[in-house]
Amino acid sequence: MIDPFGRTIDYLRVSVTDRCDFRCTYCMSENMTFLPRKELLSLEELDRLCSLFIEKGVRRLRLTGGEPLVRKNIMHLIGQLSRHLQTGALDELTLTTNGSQLSRYAAELADLGVKRINVSLDTLDPDKFRAITRWGDFSRVMAGIDAAQEAGIKVKLNAVALKNFNDLEIPQMIRWAHGRGMDITLIETMPMGEIELDRTDQYLPLSLLRTQLQREFSLEEIAYKTGGPARYVKVAETGGRIGFITPMTHNFCESCNRVRLTCTGTLYMCLGQEDAADLRAPLRASEGNELLSEAIDRAIGRKPKGHDFIIDRRHNRPAVSRHMSVTGG
Ligand code: 5AD
Ligand code: SF4
Repeated sequence: MIDPFGRTIDYLRVSVTDRCDFRCTYCMSENMTFLPRKELLSLEELDRLCSLFIEKGVRRLRLTGGEPLVRKNIMHLIGQLSRHLQTGALDELTLTTNGSQLSRYAAELADLGVKRINVSLDTLDPDKFRAITRWGDFSRVMAGIDAAQEAGIKVKLNAVALKNFNDLEIPQMIRWAHGRGMDITLIETMPMGEIELDRTDQYLPLSLLRTQLQREFSLEEIAYKTGGPARYVKVAETGGRIGFITPMTHNFCESCNRVRLTCTGTLYMCLGQEDAADLRAPLRASEGNELLSEAIDRAIGRKPKGHDFIIDRRHNRPAVSRHMSVTGG
């Protein structure tokens, strides 16, 4: 699949549910309206869609949410998808998770061929953790990270950089992550969906944070890539890596390789645009994949050039109305 700007699309992110057992303040409002359950694709339908994407050239698949591991019977879907790892059609099957259910599932995930996962973690302080996630239990996430590492899964941490929340703590988080053999990626908060808080108060440009980190660490730019938008540096003091994901301060759309599927079968061609394609109707219209394949081709054919997120006092509205939990980052 090649888009109008010559970019090869070989990475699919699938939000298997938009629900979550946390309510991170930068991600969700406290009273969320979720996608109607009757519109959900079944696990069999998700498998059929993913398998067609793989047939059409997707080499890497990531399950996201919401929290992917709260979807009922999710391990059944992962089991089904793992057949594509065995045949070699798929290079990698990964997961982005908040870690709350990991201690239960880590061993099984490893058995099914999941080699890397991203765990979202914005603080190491249990009280702050409770505050930022509203509902989360820090000790369960820690137990989840332990279980994943014990199972041999490579864990990367994702931390959203938030002004007056974790900016001062990030050096300590870096030391902690690297001490346990984990890379850590810092992410700028993006204006997606209505939340209670003012994003202008939360937004911390990573260019500023990086300058701050350079007072404490020697950062060396490296060419390391994991197929995503993060740009990595190596920290001389710890030997570990820090990734910077900068949708706000540095646009990386020219190398975009991905599309995003929601749990209701809507395909988003860009995280920062409203345009989407409905794949559920062609999926259900016939048992063969012809209509569906055509709908995917049409969607890829209108993948936009990129996003333009702004957060400041004058642009204090979401760039897109949906929350991150619909498409999973
Ligand atoms: N801006 C940036 N990152 C976000 N995430 C959730 N909402 C936002 C937002 N508005 C992060 C989560 C997770 C990843 C999938 O996206 O913390 O790490
Ligand atoms: Fe859930 Fe992740 Fe959103 Fe937090 S950021 S509410 S863990 S989906």
